Amino acid sequence: MYDFNELVDRHHSSSVKYEEMDLKFGTNQLMPFWIADMEIKSPDFLIDALQKRLNHGIFGYSKRMPGYYDAVSQWLRSRHGLAAQPENIEYAPGVVFALNMMIRLFTSPGDKIMIQTPVYYPFFGIIQGNGRVISENPLILEDGKYRMDFADLREKARDEQCKMLILCSPHNPVGRVWTEEELRELGEICIANHVLVVSDEIHFDMVFKGHKHIPFASISEAFRKNSITCTAPSKTFNIAGLHSAYTIIYNAERMEKYKAELSLLDLNRSNAFSQEVTQAVYEKGHQWVDELVEHIEGNMKYAYDFITKNIEEITPYKMEGTYLMWLDCRKLAPSAEEIDQRFIEKAGLALDSGYWFGDSGKGFMRLNLACPRSMLETAMHKLLKLKI
Ligand SMILES: Cc1ncc(COP(=O)(O)O)c(C=O)c1O
Repeated sequence: MYDFNELVDRHHSSSVKYEEMDLKFGTNQLMPFWIADMEIKSPDFLIDALQKRLNHGIFGYSKRMPGYYDAVSQWLRSRHGLAAQPENIEYAPGVVFALNMMIRLFTSPGDKIMIQTPVYYPFFGIIQGNGRVISENPLILEDGKYRMDFADLREKARDEQCKMLILCSPHNPVGRVWTEEELRELGEICIANHVLVVSDEIHFDMVFKGHKHIPFASISEAFRKNSITCTAPSKTFNIAGLHSAYTIIYNAERMEKYKAELSLLDLNRSNAFSQEVTQAVYEKGHQWVDELVEHIEGNMKYAYDFITKNIEEITPYKMEGTYLMWLDCRKLAPSAEEIDQRFIEKAGLALDSGYWFGDSGKGFMRLNLACPRSMLETAMHKLLKLKI
């Protein structure tokens, strides 16, 4: 029913992906496959909701209405089997903002916070920037698949200074959709050692056939009590610029603290557009998301086959979810700097460098597959130039 193959020119639309490319890559002239937003236009029902609000013509102080909370609650229940009442849900401008708040509110300077590397790079900055200490629990790459290292996790969780674990579920950049078994083991270790789990589930809607996203808080009452979830419709519906994330907090005391902090920062009111859009996409977006996930999975298969057949120096990993493909480029060049240079200078492509995600990402690259097929085809042919 929906078309995901329309090419939209994003130049001059204040897009970070296009206008800030030079800060990372030294030029704005590359074809962009970095940063996680999509080259796919948002659906008409989203644009109509914005248009309706726009047509009203007055944009004074705005309050989040019950319809917003109901729509979020309903989406969580129907798509993910997570029971969250409106009182368990609260707005956040972004997921990174929410993670920052959780660090500040529920740990103290000097505390250790665990992350599972390679992982979404702002996690490093928000831990260190808030005067906390990173405790790394590196993922293990075995037979072409990443898994958690529970022995190491257990040992690090035992450290009394370790107070929080930031879980990335589904995982960016390695593309794992964690199984219930894996989440259970992680959660039980954290409960036994009084480590609060903050679960970043921003990629939760983007999961391929044969896999299922399990919300961490849905596993048991004990998990619910020992966790905070941060998520958003922003990846799914391509609205990161509309600041429309939210948190799910079951513990009433923690929720009060979070709300008080939002109020202190004067963020307790609403952006007039973001709540309208969140409500609209969560009420009307089911079919669009189903079709989008099929499109992304098709892109993944296409890229996987193309690379496997034509570029033996790169090993692509089939992800289970997210729209981000992790490429092992270690055979391409001896250093991460040379790999970067080849992508930029030979292929003319901007991808996220693996080492941004931690040392264990060195020699890897992350490819954003959320684009029309024709754009991906062009990128694949550009990749061939890496060999020359
Ligand atoms: C795992 C993860 N968390 C958070 C974010 C960013 O969320 P926000 O833009 O809402 O801060 C991203 C964006 O790529 C992400 O991949």
